[in-house]
Amino acid sequence: MISRTDTILSVRELRTEFRGGRGNVRVLDDISFDVGRGRIVGLVGESGSGKSMTALSLMGLVPRPQGQVSAKSILLDGTDLATLSPDGMRRIRGNEISMVFQEPMTSLNPVRRIWDQVGEPLAVHHGLGRRAIRDRVLEMFELVGIPEPKARLEAYPHELSGGLRQRAMIAMGLICEPKLLIADEPTTALDVTTQSQILKLMLDLRDRVGTAIIMITHDLGIIAEMCDEVNVMYAGQIVEQADVFDLFERPSHPYTRGLLASIPKAGAARATKRMPSIPGMVPNLAKLPPGCRFGPRCGDAMPVCEQPPGLAGLGRGHVARCWLHASSPATCAEGAAS
Ligand SMILES: Nc1ncnc2c1ncn2[C@@H]1O[C@H](COP(=O)(O)OP(=O)(O)OP(=O)(O)O)[C@@H](O)[C@H]1O
Ligand SMILES: [Mg+2]
Repeated sequence: MISRTDTILSVRELRTEFRGGRGNVRVLDDISFDVGRGRIVGLVGESGSGKSMTALSLMGLVPRPQGQVSAKSILLDGTDLATLSPDGMRRIRGNEISMVFQEPMTSLNPVRRIWDQVGEPLAVHHGLGRRAIRDRVLEMFELVGIPEPKARLEAYPHELSGGLRQRAMIAMGLICEPKLLIADEPTTALDVTTQSQILKLMLDLRDRVGTAIIMITHDLGIIAEMCDEVNVMYAGQIVEQADVFDLFERPSHPYTRGLLASIPKAGAARATKRMPSIPGMVPNLAKLPPGCRFGPRCGDAMPVCEQPPGLAGLGRGHVARCWLHASSPATCAEGAAS
């Protein structure tokens, strides 16, 4: 896998808990992975598996005090985000790491002109004046392929199509030249044609600007098209981690195999925009089964699956949290020093 010097983000043992009336619920457990410089790393899994929570935890956006994030380390180009104060995180957010969400309308203010919002990180982090910001937003609009960019600067969010709004949000995400962009289902709300245009734009930007991207999606088709490495999430854990080719060639966790086997043919999964289903339900995190979290849904379950499985190494940085491979224990992100 990637060498340490090329690693832009290195997450080790991230845990996120929510305090509730009936005790704490751990929504993320032992999340460890790396993102290489200029690489696209996928987080994939069913609804509720913890993909967005991983993103929010990295961004310092988990609501407090009910949400509590802890980690051995979260190194962003050498800075440990796990030790930063809320003020320290505010200086990083939108500047060194930024995020693009599923539905741009919810993160845009309907009564502010688009250039003013897209350029806001420059005002917040770099103290630029209005003219300089406007010029830079225009450059960014050109970069993300917004047609007639000059005229569009003055638009209000509702005057842009969904696809153009998402391009504007990507421009906003990239305006401070972040080291890492986290895209949480960035195309789920878009029609199929616009979706593929936005994905193409993101690939193109990675090649031209070199930004590393964490791509969060339900869609294994998007993973195959976009990602270099993949983390498959289930019930708050990473259950399989591999290079994208390796994952599709040698899916090793029964959950991953289930996801792959249930992809409908001829693009039907993309058309419905839903994860293909595996029989059974994602467990309630407050009432997890004692052993393997996937055990109750797993066709390969054995008596030993009553115990929680550790991570097994399958070579070339490929790991799976499954007793089927228990003869070769490993750590997540085993390719990097942990
Ligand atoms: N504010 C909160 N308080 C308590 N639990 C929460 C809170 N927000 C999310 N969760 C729980 O955290 C778990 C992970 O949720 P998350 O939003 O990360 O899933 P996801 O993989 O992004 O799903 P989706 O594909 O539906 O977006 C879920 O069980 C969810 O109920
Ligand atoms: Mg989500």
